[in-house]
Amino acid sequence: MRFEKHLFICANQKAEGKVCCGEQHGMALVEKFREVLNEKGLKGKVRAQKAGCLDACKFGPTLVIYPEGTYYKNVQLTDVEKIVEQHIIQNKIVAELELQWEH
Ligand code: FES
Repeated sequence: MRFEKHLFICANQKAEGKVCCGEQHGMALVEKFREVLNEKGLKGKVRAQKAGCLDACKFGPTLVIYPEGTYYKNVQLTDVEKIVEQHIIQNKIVAELELQWEH
């Protein structure tokens, strides 16, 4: 596998007035994740990148982390450190931010 973990962060921008992560600091989240991952020496092992719509717009800003396929909802800039520390480094899901899908 190319990366140990791969984060896809929605930065989708829809037409004005529609709910989307791009309107809610999606791109700032991408930058913040990159910054924190760099600080922790994870560059090259863990990749954070912007994504298009993850089909979870009403829960945004959203992101998904692979290989686990864990979705996080309503992610704020202040949550980035915790997600990196807990999910990326300790391999423990941040339960209070996890987006549970009902099938
Ligand atoms: S715009 Fe982000 S999930 Fe749809």
